[in-house]
Amino acid sequence: MASTPILSCVDTSANDVSADVLLVPTFEGDSFDDLAGFGDASRGEAPGAIAGREFKAKPHEVFRITLQGWRAPRGLLVGAGKRKDWSVGRITSVAMAGTLAARSQGHGRVALLLRGAVSPQDVQAAAAGLVQACFEVAVYKTSEREAAAVSELSIVVAAADQRLVDAAARGRTVGECVNLARSLSNEPGNVLTPGTLAEQAQAVASEVGLGIDVLDEARLKALGMHLLLGVGQGSATPPRLIVLRHEPPDAPSWPVLGLVGKGITFDTGGISIKPAESMEKMKHDMSGGSAVIAALRAVRLLGAPVKVIGLVPAAENMPGGRALKPGDIVRAASGKTVEVNNTDAEGRLVLADALWYAKELGATHLVDVATLTGAVVVALGKSVSGLFAAPDWWRDRVRETADAAGERVWPMPVDDDYLELLKSDYADLVNTGGRPAGAISAAMFLKEFAGGIPWAHLDVAGTAWNDDAKPHEPKGATGVAVKTLVDLAFTAHTWPRPE
Ligand code: BES
Ligand code: MN
Ligand code: ZN
Repeated sequence: MASTPILSCVDTSANDVSADVLLVPTFEGDSFDDLAGFGDASRGEAPGAIAGREFKAKPHEVFRITLQGWRAPRGLLVGAGKRKDWSVGRITSVAMAGTLAARSQGHGRVALLLRGAVSPQDVQAAAAGLVQACFEVAVYKTSEREAAAVSELSIVVAAADQRLVDAAARGRTVGECVNLARSLSNEPGNVLTPGTLAEQAQAVASEVGLGIDVLDEARLKALGMHLLLGVGQGSATPPRLIVLRHEPPDAPSWPVLGLVGKGITFDTGGISIKPAESMEKMKHDMSGGSAVIAALRAVRLLGAPVKVIGLVPAAENMPGGRALKPGDIVRAASGKTVEVNNTDAEGRLVLADALWYAKELGATHLVDVATLTGAVVVALGKSVSGLFAAPDWWRDRVRETADAAGERVWPMPVDDDYLELLKSDYADLVNTGGRPAGAISAAMFLKEFAGGIPWAHLDVAGTAWNDDAKPHEPKGATGVAVKTLVDLAFTAHTWPRPE
């Protein structure tokens, strides 16, 4: 994995910070009263820009100043929006916007000022954002890079106690793992196949010391995983089931968190083929899988106190002489039969076998992450992931965890009446329920394979990929869900134990 720059958390006074550029998060109507000498060092420019409405401090807007007499010769005011909206998510995006602007202006030593009272959560969010902004998008470009590479990152706080220093280190690890997920998702389908995804997982496992098992076609057959095998059978590159294990010796036997990520390395739609328009984006259809691999890396490096297993059913969904056809009936590892009425609804097929296997391997709680449906994008757009879960208390826990991690999710219903949509005349279930409630019927299909244990599904079809470069995020994979999955492993000891 590409290494990220050193990152420190310091309590140097703002005028003495050693950096090329000092990022100053700025609220709407900010007066900088808390920053001694700041107005003067900027020769009145900073307060003047706000007062003159030249800089409104809207989220991710940046304004360049020079800092006369300060050790950091330049400053960037980074719009932080309304003070009341300052949150973990905002801190991360402000750190990203500021660092991306600094890089485009050629600065390699970047310091972020966190003003006022600062919590470990704030520092962790800032550190993750700084590291995420170091991510290299155009790894295959042989021409010169436009943005500077960052060599040094610092977070400047009023009092850098050990809690904050530790939080900065945690944030760095989390940011690196988000970047790992992004780099896997950005890889093109010719480079990243089920086999090479498994090799990448293998490399991560040996790097950090996770258990790993990669099931090949023979073992998938022995387990009867004909949904995963069926989706992969049209491709020249065979399916795999990747299993990663974090099993610290002192972990309790309960709970065991099972994370399952959709690993379609390219989704053509199969025989129910997709239109050409935007099909290239379907190289990121393994973003759930990359989030799970990256989360396991973080869970291991940060030492989560519970057992976590990560499963990635990986396949390439292609048309071909051997491919699944509409109307085919296949048997899942759980024993249920499925009539495949649309081969483009492949994600739920591969996940179904993996969810079943996660419980077989001892998972007591399941969370799956998948770029599952276009319908969830229609429902929630590009910045909120759909959360489908049962029972309700588990849904609420996952929602709280995502909120605290700065990732937006919204609960959707999974009541049994929606199962009507999946009735088949010939098998136990069809794999698609038509246009109404498309994201919900997809979730209902998964629920049928979760074995009745607490299960949550995050549909990240809208949130895993950023279509246009934004001031705080480049175009491409976002690494969504990594933070939520990691934080679930760290709150697992608080889950209510069944009688
Ligand atoms: N991978 C797609 C869903 C998707 C769409 C992800 C847009 C990211 C962005 C999934 O496999 C798919 O094709 N879903 C179909 C389901 C339909 C056939 C019921 C869809 O949403 O159209
Ligand atoms: Mn599809
Ligand atoms: Zn897909």
